[in-house]
Amino acid sequence: MSERQLKLGAILSGVGTTQNGWRHPDLPGYASIDIDWFIDNARKAEAAKFDLVFIVDSPYITPDSAPHFLNRLEPLTLLSAVAGATKRIGLVATLTTSYTEPFNVARQFGSLDLISRGRAGWNVVTTGLEGAAGNYGLEQHIDHSVRYRRAAEHVAVVQGLWDSYEDDAFPRDKQRGVFLDKSKLHALNHRGEFFSVSGPLNISRSRQGQPVIFQAGTSEEGRDLAARIANGIYANEETFEEAQDYYRDIKRRAAAYGRDPNEILIFPGLVPILADTDEQARLREEEVNGQLDLKKALVQLGRPFNYHDFTQYPLDEPFPDLGELGLNGYRGGADRIKRVAKTEGLTLRETAWRFAARRSPFVGSPLTVANEMERWFREGAVDGFNFRVSNPQDFQEFVERVLPILRERGVIRRDYEHETLRGHLGLPIPANRHAAARTAARSSSPNHGHALAPIASGSSLSGDVE
Ligand SMILES: Cc1cc2nc3c(=O)[nH]c(=O)nc-3n(C[C@H](O)[C@H](O)[C@H](O)COP(=O)(O)O)c2cc1C
Repeated sequence: MSERQLKLGAILSGVGTTQNGWRHPDLPGYASIDIDWFIDNARKAEAAKFDLVFIVDSPYITPDSAPHFLNRLEPLTLLSAVAGATKRIGLVATLTTSYTEPFNVARQFGSLDLISRGRAGWNVVTTGLEGAAGNYGLEQHIDHSVRYRRAAEHVAVVQGLWDSYEDDAFPRDKQRGVFLDKSKLHALNHRGEFFSVSGPLNISRSRQGQPVIFQAGTSEEGRDLAARIANGIYANEETFEEAQDYYRDIKRRAAAYGRDPNEILIFPGLVPILADTDEQARLREEEVNGQLDLKKALVQLGRPFNYHDFTQYPLDEPFPDLGELGLNGYRGGADRIKRVAKTEGLTLRETAWRFAARRSPFVGSPLTVANEMERWFREGAVDGFNFRVSNPQDFQEFVERVLPILRERGVIRRDYEHETLRGHLGLPIPANRHAAARTAARSSSPNHGHALAPIASGSSLSGDVE
């Protein structure tokens, strides 16, 4: 087996998810809605042999949302266009399980997987922003723990639907007039807590079997879901120690579910601050943070609390007691803010700066940043990084000055060895469950070697994740 290598994702986030990033002189103000911007950057990432591009998404905004959130392309539509303009790079789209139906989601990702010839991935989120409820006919956001139960069932149903057709279900024999072998088509007939889905799905599997499942969400329930269903995690730990703790926790949970911990890869976000020397990079960090304005920092701080208005509190008193606020939204993020403010004894003003400021553990010369990335990888804190692409200069510097150091050391690949996303990530192709059951039944049958009756269509999912 080839040596384990660091994986790379590129989060394409147009004009950026910070309040000020869009003002960079070389970044087009319409980047978030310009398919050419996405194609151009996906091709750059592909030329640099990234494993995947990654699109975040959420179905709720306010007028104060960060510029990229205000006006952006829907991820699956966007990635279908990128699929046609690239050949190798994986394509991961975020879609919520809280406000979608599994049948639609299975079709959409099944289509992207065929369009891209086996390069699709689904980043499963439960939606942190409570206001989303109002866009789907609900008075209130679905409760945090209910969202996670729903997510587990949703993904199980989607994966069940993706196996509707066995891989050899279509003889397409024009001579005999046989298009489909009906014995290889399976309904789902799922009846669960949240969904009733008969199936079958009207789309077959791709060459990678099924799209790769990613997950983002760091609360207890989020970690548990990831450990059960994910092959990739988009994480956001801030320090090496936090990342290492998180890494160990996830791998331990995955093993407890009977999974191979090597088949769940952890990718924290990466926003390095680069310059020719470490000193210049630190100055650059100070300069960027010096341009922040407090009003926007307070808006940003409010986002994990469903855009809570922090201007109502005195700035120079201890961070306010928010009670349960945030527990039903971005719980993992909200908890962290409350915890840090308390343990570090911060005022509201200090908390706003602390979380609005770009605090990256990757600040320095290309060599310093490459060393640090390698350390995180070798010392069990990450399997990959999700580099945030917005500022064009930063992306170029990273590709041209940091990656060659890592490539030279064998930490990242020189060239693609595979054509699918599963191939890039070293993940096995999941066997079609019906074909696998047929094979298992055949090998345990006393009449081994004789043709068996097809598995009854209508095998049902119990609601558990397989
Ligand atoms: C790093 C990270 C990225 C996330 N990205 C998204 C996203 O793109 N869209 C979304 O609706 N929610 C996103 N979430 C939110 C989670 O899916 C989840 O809805 C919310 O955080 C509450 O879960 P938690 O309490 O487990 O963190 C993200 C969460 C994390 C930690």
